[in-house]
Amino acid sequence: MSQSNPAVVVIGAGLAGLTVALELADRGPVVVLAKREMSEAATAWAQGGIVGVLGSDDSVESHVRDTQDAGAGLVDEHTARFIAEHSAAAVQWLVDQGVPFSADPSGPLGLHLTREGGHAVRRIAHAADATGRAIHEVLLATARAHPNIDLRERWMAIDLITSRHLGRNEPARCYGTYALHIDANRVEALPAAAVVLATGGAGKVYRYTTNPETSTGDGIAMAWRAGCRVGNMEFIQFHPTCLYHPQERSFLITEALRGEGAQLKLPDGARFMRAHDAREELAPRDIVARAIDFEMKKHGLDHVWLDATHLGEGFLKEHFPTIHARCLALGIDIARQPIPVVPAAHYTCGGVVSDLHGRADVAGLYAVGETTYTGLHGANRLASNSLLECVVLGRTCAEHILSSDAAAIADVPAWDESQVEDADEQVVIAHNWDELRLLMWNYVGIVRTTKRLERALHRIELLRHEIDDYYANFRVSRDLLELRNLVECAELIVRSALVRRESRGLHYSRDFPTTLPVSLPTVLTRPARSSAEPARARSRQTTRIE
Ligand code: FAD
Ligand code: SIN
Repeated sequence: MSQSNPAVVVIGAGLAGLTVALELADRGPVVVLAKREMSEAATAWAQGGIVGVLGSDDSVESHVRDTQDAGAGLVDEHTARFIAEHSAAAVQWLVDQGVPFSADPSGPLGLHLTREGGHAVRRIAHAADATGRAIHEVLLATARAHPNIDLRERWMAIDLITSRHLGRNEPARCYGTYALHIDANRVEALPAAAVVLATGGAGKVYRYTTNPETSTGDGIAMAWRAGCRVGNMEFIQFHPTCLYHPQERSFLITEALRGEGAQLKLPDGARFMRAHDAREELAPRDIVARAIDFEMKKHGLDHVWLDATHLGEGFLKEHFPTIHARCLALGIDIARQPIPVVPAAHYTCGGVVSDLHGRADVAGLYAVGETTYTGLHGANRLASNSLLECVVLGRTCAEHILSSDAAAIADVPAWDESQVEDADEQVVIAHNWDELRLLMWNYVGIVRTTKRLERALHRIELLRHEIDDYYANFRVSRDLLELRNLVECAELIVRSALVRRESRGLHYSRDFPTTLPVSLPTVLTRPARSSAEPARARSRQTTRIE
């Protein structure tokens, strides 16, 4: 790509999107969209850290093995190995950008490494307990200062512009995106030589989640509507320890606290993890979350306790300053009292099928970060592998864009609002939003049954019908667009879960409690649309998964 080449549009300003943008920017213009404030992204909320195979007691082999163990037989070994091999360079890249990781003069690269569940050794580079904020602030500041990066805050991508919109009979290609400029209340077509989806996960599809408002699965839904495959959507990771407090619904208590020795307890102070797994508090997340769910249901509890009091006030203040301060502000002194915790939806292991260069099924379209399915996470993601995937594949994605012949920018049709009017009743959106998230929590949660999944699917179909109708008739708003994407993701999750007739990793079914000896990823393909059904710049989406 030369200096005169047309822009790449990166949808998302988390770690994935910013890595791609920074790696591209010296060679040409990049537009980066963020649908809310730039600072709002799961990246900025990451606590524990990022994997780096750095220690003299560590090896690529050991990290691949841990990733595979956590991933319960569905990890793509080639992907896991590639990412592990590039982990040291990824951490070094962040250090070079200026990320202030916690230091240990005797540690590799001068870094302090911590430990989390499922890891055989200490291999997590971190910035105390606010790693994501440290990374995000540094990368955002660098991007802001780069003359080739155009950061557009409060711009929300709606749909991808593909060959169908241009009426071209060719193998599918992406030509840009339609985006809502929220403050101007106007939809614009953004033509591009390449589009990168870096929109994060879909945690908001559940009532209780550790995720920020931005995690509504937009990239997954957009790619699916554009004809891309999605994989492994049934594997939604529930983090075992989200703070249970009426004023703080989404505050994570990092796994690194258990890594340093914090213990899960019942109200009478008894530990319970030994009964569920020999690794106790450091078993992979699916096991710990299910154990907590089991104990809460057995004893009729709203939450369990995480006890870190024995670690001492000095240690907790030094290593977990954010958690210490946030809990103290809510009246919980974690040096003296156990912390009330519950599991909550945390990470979307599945997503847009993409390769080690971020290429999705449609030419000119890339996907990086939590929005993807690359095979790294299998049936359950190993802690701190996500930030790593964002950096490693963000960099290879940029390399691929730079080494490809840049496509010419096409004339794309303008957004069509001729058939729509202002929305009459916002209550429809608010009601459907709540209903969807609650039904996903109750029917498609940590423990599933076929009957509950079928009930969920039936309700989702009704909601879809109503939301499609609303979308076809009224001007778009961020809430409506997010709801449209959430319902798309909910359907993909439920349909994927119904296909899996076993229990594995994060998918546990009471009707199919055993793990089959051989199993494959769940890859859904959208039925081809007939060529007699051209896309309009705004068309009602009626195709269903058969
Ligand atoms: P995000 O960081 O979520 O960024 C998504 C971006 O896309 C945002 O800028 C958003 O505005 C934008 N966007 C979304 N939709 C649109 C649209 N339609 N139009 C325009 N913009 C859009 N992982 C680890 O490896 N280590 C950890 O310690 C860790 N801790 C975590 C703690 C918490 C509380 C959470 C929630 C997650 C944690 N994770 C951790 C997971 C990890 O943070 C995320 O998976 C990762 O940051 C995702 O990065 P991303 O760039 O793919 O997406
Ligand atoms: C945590 O700090 O517990 C989250 C780590 C992760 O999600 O990888």
